[in-house]
Order: sequence, then structure tokens, then C-alpha cells
Amino acid sequence: MRPSVNRELIMSEEKKISLQAVQSAVSKLSYGLYIVSSFDGERNNGQLVNTVFQVAAAPPGIAVSLNKNTLTHSFVEKSGLFSVSVLDRDTPMPFIGIFGFKSGHDGRKCEKIVFKTLGGCPAVAENSLAIFTVRVGKKVDMDTHTIFIGAVTAAETLKDGPPLTYAYYKDVKRGKTQKNATTYAAETGEENA
Ligand SMILES: Cc1cc2nc3c(=O)[nH]c(=O)nc-3n(C[C@H](O)[C@H](O)[C@H](O)COP(=O)(O)O)c2cc1C
Repeated sequence: MRPSVNRELIMSEEKKISLQAVQSAVSKLSYGLYIVSSFDGERNNGQLVNTVFQVAAAPPGIAVSLNKNTLTHSFVEKSGLFSVSVLDRDTPMPFIGIFGFKSGHDGRKCEKIVFKTLGGCPAVAENSLAIFTVRVGKKVDMDTHTIFIGAVTAAETLKDGPPLTYAYYKDVKRGKTQKNATTYAAETGEENA
């Protein structure tokens, strides 16, 4: 029988190999890029996400996965509402940077952003093809993230044009991921916290 220290080494090596296999496979998933916004009664805040998707047709159900570290997460917890802005493919990178690489925990990053109120929730209309508001009905705890799920209560289409996909953001705009993103581990090999 091997000494336990060796077994531990082998076990951790096996874990590493299987984690790499998972990360490699899930990095092939495709996504869009969106701004999810919410409020706490005193101020509005929004963050970049790639994890919005439609989960039911009628009534239309929407889900988003937010890292528990983000200010937007705490605002959605408090208000029970979030809006989604479907970003235009031509959205300038500095605009994306405000939502994806700055946190409202560190300062009022959205001071210069004009929010439109839709269904009682602030939504970012600039650089967006469509906006809609979701009332949270269910929450799923995923340790680092919470999946907020709910029904669309208000919606507006603002303009036509191609939406920003995650592939276009990475391959054409040369955009990076961020530690709170669900894709962080798959792209960097590090775990997100
Ligand atoms: C390409 C990209 C995708 C991201 N996707 C998500 C996501 O799906 N969920 C999430 O919680 N954070 C995601 N993030 C990270 C947040 O946008 C980032 O942590 C933001 O600064 C949080 O802002 P806040 O603290 O003001 O809410 C992503 C970041 C980038 C750059």
C-alpha cells in the first residue's frame, strides 16, 4: 500500500487533470454580453455579464448569474429587480470597461451614466439594442455566484443591429475576462472567488 502522502499527491494530480479537461470543454460555450443594472433606493449600479439567458417562453423567463462580490448582486438581492441591456456590437471598449472592470463598491462608477427607468428599475439605454426588466422569483445558490431567475415585466427594443457576442468581444475587440466572471476559470485556469 502506498504511503498516504503519495495517494494525496496522486489524488490532487487527478483532480487537476480533470479540472483542466472541464475548463477546456466549457471554454467552448458561446455567450452574449449584457449590462445588468439595479438600485438600492439611493443610487443605481450596473455590471457587465455574459450569463443572461432566456429560460422559459411564455411568460418569458430570464436568468442571470451574479458573483456575490459585486455591488449589483447586493442591489438585486435588496430590490428584487434587475434590468438587462443587450449591448450593440459597436459598444466602445471604455464604456464596457466601466461596467466590467470597475466596481461600485470602490466608488460611484455610474455617476455619468444616463439610466432610463423601465418597470421600476434603472436600465442602461446607451449602446443598447434592447432593454428589459426582470422581477426575481427564484434564486439558486452556486457558492461563488447566485443565479437570479424571474419573469420579464417591461421591455423595449431601441434599435436594430448586431448584438455584441462574447466571441466578438474576445477575438475582434481583444477584450479580457475578469475574476468575477463565470468564464474566468475556463480562460485563465485560475478559480474565481
Ligand atoms: C467579459 C466579462 C464578463 C463578465 N461576466 C460576469 C458574469 O456573468 N457575472 C458576474 O457576476 N460578473 C461578471 N463579470 C464581472 C463584473 O462585470 C465585474 O466584477 C464588475 O466590476 C462588477 O461591478 P459592480 O461591483 O459594480 O456590480 C464579467 C466581466 C467581464 C469583463
